[in-house]
Amino acid sequence: QFDRAIRPTSLEDYIGQPIVREQMEIFIHAAKSRQEALDHTLIFGPPGLGKTTLANIIAREMGGNMKSTSGPVLERAGDLAALLTNLEAGDVLFIDEIHRLSPVIEEILYPAMEDYQLDIMIGEGPAARSIKLDLPPFTLVAATTRAGLLTSPLRDRFGIVQRLEFYSIADLTTIVTRSANLLNVPIHPDGAVEIARRARGTPRIVNRLLRRVRDYAEVKGDGVVTSDIAARALDMLAVDKQGLDTLDRRYLQMLLERFDGGPAGVESLAASLAEDSGTLEDVVEPYLIQQGFVMRTARGRIATPQAYLQFGLEVPVRNG
Ligand code: ADE
Repeated sequence: QFDRAIRPTSLEDYIGQPIVREQMEIFIHAAKSRQEALDHTLIFGPPGLGKTTLANIIAREMGGNMKSTSGPVLERAGDLAALLTNLEAGDVLFIDEIHRLSPVIEEILYPAMEDYQLDIMIGEGPAARSIKLDLPPFTLVAATTRAGLLTSPLRDRFGIVQRLEFYSIADLTTIVTRSANLLNVPIHPDGAVEIARRARGTPRIVNRLLRRVRDYAEVKGDGVVTSDIAARALDMLAVDKQGLDTLDRRYLQMLLERFDGGPAGVESLAASLAEDSGTLEDVVEPYLIQQGFVMRTARGRIATPQAYLQFGLEVPVRNG
């Protein structure tokens, strides 16, 4: 399958995120030399930046297996207990969307993380018993789009916390070139840059756009991804030169026109756009803020002068 073929499997192949990479190289090397499990690791950042990929790489570099689950899937104590008791020394337990863990499950996780102890109740009423089991030394790798939503006792139990940043155009160009090579898609260097520029700083998007541009090149061209083919394909997909997609533009236009540039609350924006406010906070706003179109203030979101200019509007002169 497409994604499997192009996902990096070692830190060496992991492009970008230099700080994360350097730190993880050191921590993994040190843990391996001491023959210990790597400390529990929390990875946060917007969707598509490679949190799951990094978890896989950690497991592989540590020489263990990875078992995956996600916060909302873990409903009962037994669900987590089953996973924990199946781990071997050095394995990685990956929990995606860790901010959506139920409080009951969180309580079980604390002693498991701190002392490799599983402490659960089985049965009900007079027959109920508490059982304690020793777990093998393992590494919990957890991912979340919003570290702010974790309870502090949970956050405090991670020895390593990594924040993934949006990727530069140069890094995305390297990623899309690598993907094209792995998929035998002929691509010109400026075709790669064109796709990278419009990928919202996100590897998942650059790889998805590559697939669509490849389709376009095969049908409308001779199969070679040139900058002209890439630009035409991406125009067709309504991805603009700044990398803004349709929802990004709807968000900005709503903020600029209906809310007069703000400040606007995220809930009001969500209602006006008929979108979920969590999606705006996790997916849309991080990129618009990073690109300097929007600012988050105590009173709500405000459009920056750059946002007005992007839509060819006059920048208002504000008092105060
Ligand atoms: N694919 C997705 N993320 C990547 C990364 N950081 N490096 C290389 N390929 C990737």
